[in-house]
Amino acid sequence: MAGELRYDDQVVVITGAGGGLGKAYATFFGSRGAKVVVNDLGGSFKGEGNSTKAADVVVNEIKAAGGQAVANYDSVENGENIIETAIQAFGRIDILLNNAGILRDVSFKNMSDQDWDLVMKVHVKGAYKCARAAWPHFRKQKYGRVINTASAAGLFGNFGQANYSAAKLAQVGFTETLAKEGAKYNIICNVIAPIAASRMTETIMPPDMLENLKPEWVVPLVAVLVHKSNMTENGGIFEVGGGHIAKYRWERSSGLLLKADDSYTPGAVLKQWSKVNDFSNPQYPTGPNDFMGLLEESMKMGPNDKGEKLDFTGKVALVT
Ligand code: NAI
Repeated sequence: MAGELRYDDQVVVITGAGGGLGKAYATFFGSRGAKVVVNDLGGSFKGEGNSTKAADVVVNEIKAAGGQAVANYDSVENGENIIETAIQAFGRIDILLNNAGILRDVSFKNMSDQDWDLVMKVHVKGAYKCARAAWPHFRKQKYGRVINTASAAGLFGNFGQANYSAAKLAQVGFTETLAKEGAKYNIICNVIAPIAASRMTETIMPPDMLENLKPEWVVPLVAVLVHKSNMTENGGIFEVGGGHIAKYRWERSSGLLLKADDSYTPGAVLKQWSKVNDFSNPQYPTGPNDFMGLLEESMKMGPNDKGEKLDFTGKVALVT
């Protein structure tokens, strides 16, 4: 079809591509000229067991449709083996989609070290290991595209998901740093917080909602971000699902600025707490340098008044 985004001669590695979102990515890229490494450990959504079947089914599907694909069954914790599969089979890697994931949902009170460690291993260490192994190839060829996968649970927190939300917000900081380090080598990294029907969500969402959240509807955003035409959209955080795509950014309240001397007491902060929470004139910082200007302003200020202090409810309290 004229005008469609294509990935001919490019090699795409997709982790956790045996089902859900990963499978949707794999079949898409396989149908648009890319050579696809379909990685999947083939375990349960809780990270138990393993099997070659999940990856094999997707590879066979891509091949049956005329595409090129190979399977890899390693855990993402062994990312170097996954990237090596790409190099051995196709001689290069252009695009890495860090997508594999598991859940070990349990209230924080009952969370075991194993629940914490396994989620960290798959999401955080797994994304790191795959990107780390791909990085020298990207730098050498001055080309690379990476998508990491966060979650609304990471951005906002969610009951029963302390482990998962910590691992998912980690993807944001990881991506933002890779975006900065990769930019001069034309390595573009973005992070998505998707929402889609999959075995992960099928037990927690009603069927009519799932019907409107097809994994295929996350694909177009990812396809645009990793396309060679994207030279500038780097380090972005995107929410995507059900046909909706939006970008996130940090917002800072105009804030409370006090002279940092001995008048800078807890009571002085409490007295003007509403300013800390005042988003009527927000700022959108993009890096630590935005903070330095504020510090300079603070240094120029006169001393604070040391009058009556207020507590959080606005009542007068003797706090200093
Ligand atoms: P899914 O369970 O269908 O797919 C995840 C795949 O990763 C599975 O095929 C699984 O076998 C594989 N996998 C798990 N551990 C692995 C490991 N150690 N090494 C290699 N492969 C492994 O789930 P879904 O929904 O497609 O999730 C994909 C990604 O999107 C995950 O990172 C998930 O946390 C994230 N996500 C999904 C949301 C949704 O609404 N479906 C919401 C927010 C985030």
